[in-house]
Amino acid sequence: MNITVTRKLVQRLIEAQGTAISGQQLADEFGISRTAVWKHIKELEEQGYRIESVKKKGYILSALPDTLEPTDIQALLKTGRLGQNMHFLESCPSTQIAAHQLAQEDAPDGTVVLTEEQTAGRGRMARRWHSAANKGIWMSVILRPDVPPQKAPQFTLVTAVAVVRAIEQVTGLKPEIKWPNDILLNGKKCTGILTELQSDADGIQALIIGIGLNVNQLREDFDPEVQDIATSLKMESGDDVDRKQLVSSILYFLEQYSDLYIAEGFGMLKLMWESYSSTIGRPVRARMAKETLEGMAEGITEDGVLQLRTPDGKLHGIYSADIEMTN
Ligand code: BTN
Repeated sequence: MNITVTRKLVQRLIEAQGTAISGQQLADEFGISRTAVWKHIKELEEQGYRIESVKKKGYILSALPDTLEPTDIQALLKTGRLGQNMHFLESCPSTQIAAHQLAQEDAPDGTVVLTEEQTAGRGRMARRWHSAANKGIWMSVILRPDVPPQKAPQFTLVTAVAVVRAIEQVTGLKPEIKWPNDILLNGKKCTGILTELQSDADGIQALIIGIGLNVNQLREDFDPEVQDIATSLKMESGDDVDRKQLVSSILYFLEQYSDLYIAEGFGMLKLMWESYSSTIGRPVRARMAKETLEGMAEGITEDGVLQLRTPDGKLHGIYSADIEMTN
């Protein structure tokens, strides 16, 4: 069986978006016999693709298997750059490490690294990121924006807005953002974002945006130490969620919003971020490396800095902290 033809056949069926394509048409397009088409279809069904055969009309792809097969994701993509170059690893220590390496080897803007399992997933503040096999989205995106390094931190906030929009689009759930970049459902974390920078005297060489999204885990799939604070899209919606659609949707919104940020500045995205925020307008405790402050979270600045007003009336700019709501 020619594997390339099998993959191209899936791409063709995905692109048909639920309309039937006849066996004869596929045979003509691929220069093979109708029997060969049928054999490829059977092979795909064995791999978990659900393909309906409608009399006198042809084949319709009705469901994809729950894998992160990059050619399937690429057939779903609606982006110009993000994900057009995609690396898939069955298992790796961290997609951040792989993406840093690729960025140093001149990987183009929009390159994506995806894996099924991370053995040493990295979180913010040198924490570990639990990355259960086959249940989540563990992905790093390389961006090469032509902006000065001081404009880099906002990309984390832009990414948070993009991921929230994608979760809404694919699942109908209504996530919130906890400053700076945790995405919550019913107060529990479903997504973390880690942005790292490669820069030199000429400015930003690459931004490596790591996204960890809990998709189809059940409570017992999480380490006991995070079971009470973590959740997944499946736990909140009750349904299995299509990870490929979600990756495609995240990359779509990330491309749209990062281009908007680069072209027009942070204003519009700041408003969107604030509208999704669970932090703004609430009393919070901000734990930083050297001190802890309590007060009202009033908003974020154009630079993404959290504005916290303490009871003595002073306004503090918070650059990096762990935030807890205090009511
Ligand atoms: C956080 O601490 O909230 C950030 C977590 C970021 C996790 C993602 S998973 C994909 C990428 N690879 C990593 O090792 N970390 C990020």
